[in-house]
Amino acid sequence: MSMNSPVTEQSLLIFAHQLTRIYPMGRTDVIGINRLDLQITTGEMVVLKGDSGSGKSTLLSLLAGLDRPTGGQLTVAGVDLAAATESVLTRYRRSVIGMVFQNFNLLPTLSVMENACLPALLAGLAHHQAMVRAEDLLRWLGLDHRKDHLPAQLSGGEMQRTAIARALINEPQIILADEPTGNLDSRSGETVIELLAELNRSRQRTVIIATHSNLADATATRLIRLKDGEITGLA
Ligand SMILES: Nc1ncnc2c1ncn2[C@@H]1O[C@H](COP(=O)(O)OP(=O)(O)OP(=O)(O)O)[C@@H](O)[C@H]1O
Ligand SMILES: [Mg+2]
Repeated sequence: MSMNSPVTEQSLLIFAHQLTRIYPMGRTDVIGINRLDLQITTGEMVVLKGDSGSGKSTLLSLLAGLDRPTGGQLTVAGVDLAAATESVLTRYRRSVIGMVFQNFNLLPTLSVMENACLPALLAGLAHHQAMVRAEDLLRWLGLDHRKDHLPAQLSGGEMQRTAIARALINEPQIILADEPTGNLDSRSGETVIELLAELNRSRQRTVIIATHSNLADATATRLIRLKDGEITGLA
């Protein structure tokens, strides 16, 4: 592939070339991601490793369309994220990406069912269709008996599984998880990683997990180690 050609191979899902995110901080620049080259194909399960500050969350935010590159190219699922308009980015975040965070980010006044349904309703899906999808996901996630509970009434593992249901409701091609086990006990952490691996294996989702833990190493198709915003090799 030449440097400027569009992504043509169907299996090439993520294409980053010299991808850069610099945070201007007064007189100095802080490096988030530095001239990173990366290609990820459909169906991979990638684990991002690296010390605190190495750029893992920055890279995930760029891939999620939550943040924009300050340099280089980034094309995901055919969308040029460096050039996309806000409305294209909004649609992209809703339909292509499902995101899972360390702190779950559930809405505290909504039930498990309502949290799971919300992105589908925002995307314009009919209420009953969203419910049907959510019922399915919550059953798969072992949350049947927690549907009407509020987040504060759940264990950490149940909160994270609710967040996974929310991430999956719009059937995204790509799941991005930023330290998804960071606030969980080891048993719940293992469950969350197993669920992400299952999504990858049986449902052909591309999964990218940033984590300090080794729980996902065995199931990853690729380990990428970051240092100072650059790929330094395999973990
Ligand atoms: N909004 C921001 N403004 C300024 N600098 C930032 C911002 N976000 C991240 N950085 C800086 O960018 C670098 C990479 O941060 P990032 O959060 O991506 O690291 P990380 O690998 O996710 O770390 P951790 O393992 O602690 O989560 C760090 O030096 C950080 O201080
Ligand atoms: Mg981080």
